[in-house]
Amino acid sequence: MSERLEDIAVAMVAGGKGILAADESSGTIKKRFDVIGVESTADSRRDYREMMFRTKEAMTRYISGVILYDETIRQNAADGTPLVELIKAAGAIPGIKVDAGAKAIVNFPGDTITEGLDGLRERMAEYYKLGARFAKWRAVIDIDTTRNVPSAYSLSANTQALARYAALCQEAGIVPIVEPEVLMDGAHDIDTCYDVTKATLVKLYDELYAARVVLEGTILKPNMVISGKKAAKQAGAEEIAEKTIKLFRETVPAAVPGIAFLSGGQSDEDATANLNAINAIGPHPWKLTFSYGRALQAAPQKAWSGKAENLGAGQAAFTHRAHMNHLAALGQWKS
Ligand code: 13P
Repeated sequence: MSERLEDIAVAMVAGGKGILAADESSGTIKKRFDVIGVESTADSRRDYREMMFRTKEAMTRYISGVILYDETIRQNAADGTPLVELIKAAGAIPGIKVDAGAKAIVNFPGDTITEGLDGLRERMAEYYKLGARFAKWRAVIDIDTTRNVPSAYSLSANTQALARYAALCQEAGIVPIVEPEVLMDGAHDIDTCYDVTKATLVKLYDELYAARVVLEGTILKPNMVISGKKAAKQAGAEEIAEKTIKLFRETVPAAVPGIAFLSGGQSDEDATANLNAINAIGPHPWKLTFSYGRALQAAPQKAWSGKAENLGAGQAAFTHRAHMNHLAALGQWKS
């Protein structure tokens, strides 16, 4: 496989394949395991992820790359094979989450800044040696109109950090996934999501230009333009698709090869239906695919529930969701 940034980025979004976001921190995976009654240990986390990475149909046909957490990129399968090698053997690309999480911004209640730039150059060099060819950094943008959240200050600080991260990735031969996530947790309507996501993306591409990041060697991981979860009126898939594409046409340069959405708390089926609606109104200047965490993993987690005898059921559930999202990335999914 080519080592050019541009080629890696294209491969990450080609052919209706998408990305498995399996980069939950130890705290987040514990929350997911709590739901299915599984104790979170290094071994249970390994067993669960090994189950997915050994799912042949999903990994070879529908998944282009996997975002790993620091622990996972160093872990071996039960038989001693590095997990990274399982991913590569399936023809998928290993990736790594490198941010250190979102922390409260002093003087700006409700706003967060994502940390993790200190020492990142050295960490990138190590992750490259461990096999990572792409990385992820997530900025978290909440919406709370009663408190003027997000502030201009937060958008500025977060997008500048994303640009500094992206430049360091490219220096190390690693494709940056830039993820400015506007949360869907509030009661705001879809047009508010549109406005905030627009302000975020305009600022993001300003900063990426300023940092001299090569856009052809990047992937954008955004939210869809969508109603807040607690909003009384929920926009349907067609409106989500129309507004999402209108926004990207205004803000995302055509030099960017691909846009891989986060699922952000959408139901499994909504995440698939909305991606499909977005691709159904193409053609578009970029590939539009998935980089889902919850919307790919909720079903296999439940089917597996920590029991070795459920491995097949877990793999079948993962294959099904990956297949449906693959069809949606091609605009060929039917409900
Ligand atoms: P969700 O699809 O669960 O939002 O996770 C994707 C991700 O990687 C968030 O950073």
